[in-house]
Amino acid sequence: MRTLFVAGNWKMNPNSAEAAVALAEAVKSGVGQAVDVRVAVCPPAIYLSRIDPVLAGSPIGLGAQNMHAKPDGAYTGEISGAMLVDAGCTHVILGHSERRHGQGETDDAVNGKLHAALAAQLIPIVCIGETRLERESDLTEDVVARQLEHSLAGLSPEQMAGVVLAYEPVWAIGTGLTATPQQAQAVHAFIRRQLAAKFGEATAARVVVQYGGSVKADNAAELLACPDIDGALVGGASLKPADFLGIIEAGQSVTAKGKG
Ligand code: 13P
Repeated sequence: MRTLFVAGNWKMNPNSAEAAVALAEAVKSGVGQAVDVRVAVCPPAIYLSRIDPVLAGSPIGLGAQNMHAKPDGAYTGEISGAMLVDAGCTHVILGHSERRHGQGETDDAVNGKLHAALAAQLIPIVCIGETRLERESDLTEDVVARQLEHSLAGLSPEQMAGVVLAYEPVWAIGTGLTATPQQAQAVHAFIRRQLAAKFGEATAARVVVQYGGSVKADNAAELLACPDIDGALVGGASLKPADFLGIIEAGQSVTAKGKG
């Protein structure tokens, strides 16, 4: 049914185009023509057009980490969806917690970008997730429901089926604290129930929902084996080819075995 999708969010790394190209080359040669797991890398915007030719002829998608909601105009420092497509992008991460919490990005802002990404024919990866305080206050489902409601407003079921979601509990990002497979699966199942209520069962069954937050080669298999976890959005481990490839391999072995 849903093909597992592993994406690397390089965040603000590495420090040179040369190192970025080398990382993309290593991922490309490691992945080869493996197509049973979807793979994408999301480098800093300034490296995108350097990396696009590196990935030519491979099944690896190229994603940006953000975009602006408007198609053009007086928006200093911003990048439009059309510019990302022109640079070779197939995907774009939207509403990452580091933008929501660090740059004050709201659900409404994410929603504007989401509609713009779809209009530009980019596959959006929309991030949602609760903070540690929200989890400890038993607000995880409330927060996730609110983020889904507002971030996904105005989408048709057909549009929704082409959107990737990434559940990234904020307390698990870059901390080495991973949600247990049981914790993650519970929220993923909740997300799918919310999608079913909003867009219908058939659409909910098609939406790929990645997990993100300290995913490593040694914990990926048990997360990816969960019925409602359809991939991983990987930060730190995506900067080391062996680690990132290990996560992809974990996805391949889960795919080969089937989810039962
Ligand atoms: P880490 O894998 O470094 O925890 O980052 C997760 C993340 O934020 C991916 O978008």
